[in-house]
Amino acid sequence: MLFPETISKKLNIPYPVIQAPMFGVSTPEMVAASADAGCLGSLALGDLPAEKCIPLIRKTRSLTEKPFAVNIFVHDIPEITAGLREKYTEAKAFVETFAAENGLNVNLPALEDLTVNTYHEQLEAIIDEGCGILSFTFAIPDEESIGRLKEKNMLLIGTSTSVEEALLLEKAGIDLIVVQGIEAGGHRGTFNTENIPQIGGMSLLSQIADHIDVPLMYSGGIYNAKTMQAARALGAEGFQVGSMLLAAQESALLPFERERLKTVQENDIVLTKSFSGRYARGISNRYIRKLEGSDYILPYPYQNKLTGALRNAARLQQDADFVSIWLGQSIHDYSTQSAKNILENLIEEYKQLP
Ligand SMILES: Cc1cc2nc3c(=O)[nH]c(=O)nc-3n(C[C@H](O)[C@H](O)[C@H](O)COP(=O)(O)O)c2cc1C
Repeated sequence: MLFPETISKKLNIPYPVIQAPMFGVSTPEMVAASADAGCLGSLALGDLPAEKCIPLIRKTRSLTEKPFAVNIFVHDIPEITAGLREKYTEAKAFVETFAAENGLNVNLPALEDLTVNTYHEQLEAIIDEGCGILSFTFAIPDEESIGRLKEKNMLLIGTSTSVEEALLLEKAGIDLIVVQGIEAGGHRGTFNTENIPQIGGMSLLSQIADHIDVPLMYSGGIYNAKTMQAARALGAEGFQVGSMLLAAQESALLPFERERLKTVQENDIVLTKSFSGRYARGISNRYIRKLEGSDYILPYPYQNKLTGALRNAARLQQDADFVSIWLGQSIHDYSTQSAKNILENLIEEYKQLP
């Protein structure tokens, strides 16, 4: 089967296949390996401060001369009110106590000790570093930022989880849209709404394709050539794959997290706000079961910052009950080959389709 050309031409890559940005999992090495397979690697910068973004961009550039995307979380920072202070203190105490009861002793940061940065600082660093492709999730950068990025001729890739969001991205002049089905692993890209749309990939992609002229890439549940073919039939001109690469050689997952992938069952996969304050799909564990739906979940990014130290401590102790292992709905054997081999095999399989 032939790959559509629109997106690969725009991105200057052989195949319209994107290695999904996966903050905490994808690495500069994964980006370079994906570029070697003729795909677009994505360097996930999440909400890192600018000074941490710069070395990662430079490292990636030292590993590949091919195009790659940098990816950021575009999010507002809620004002710190008296109510938030109180809630934070309660959540901190609750989580510390629950962790200690389960053998994980950790002091979580006080609200005053958190460093919370805006995407604007990241954008300055990304522009200064001369990056050519920016993808983003959680919202759309403000108009002024988009103007600046366009002035620099940057190609912009946004994420949509509803037709309404796709229309807003199109209106904002975004070059390519990633349609993120509810199947997708990791955070929902949904724009700052409490009740996230939970639209399955098939329905969402087809409806967005009916309304939008911007080229679409599909993301969520792709794990072989047939799933790509289905997305193609529904209007996708490109494909973004995440979970398929979780156990790749270049993944930052630790050995105990990779082991967990081998035993995961279909009913283990849940959407949860408990780690970050935003919905994300991953493997359920003791922490999620206790926290989900409780009063101890703060708005993003405060919950994310609160639980960062918890997750680091759990990783040191190899405790899968207190880490966030994000994963999509297509459970299969996760290849431990290089991302280059995994993507090359996927592309070859697609080409062999009738
Ligand atoms: C571990 C993990 C981390 C993720 N982190 C990000 C991220 O930093 N930025 C982003 O735009 N999407 C992120 N996502 C979502 C992916 O870009 C993509 O939508 C998703 O992986 C597609 O579904 P799949 O996992 O079924 O392939 C993440 C997904 C996973 C599995």
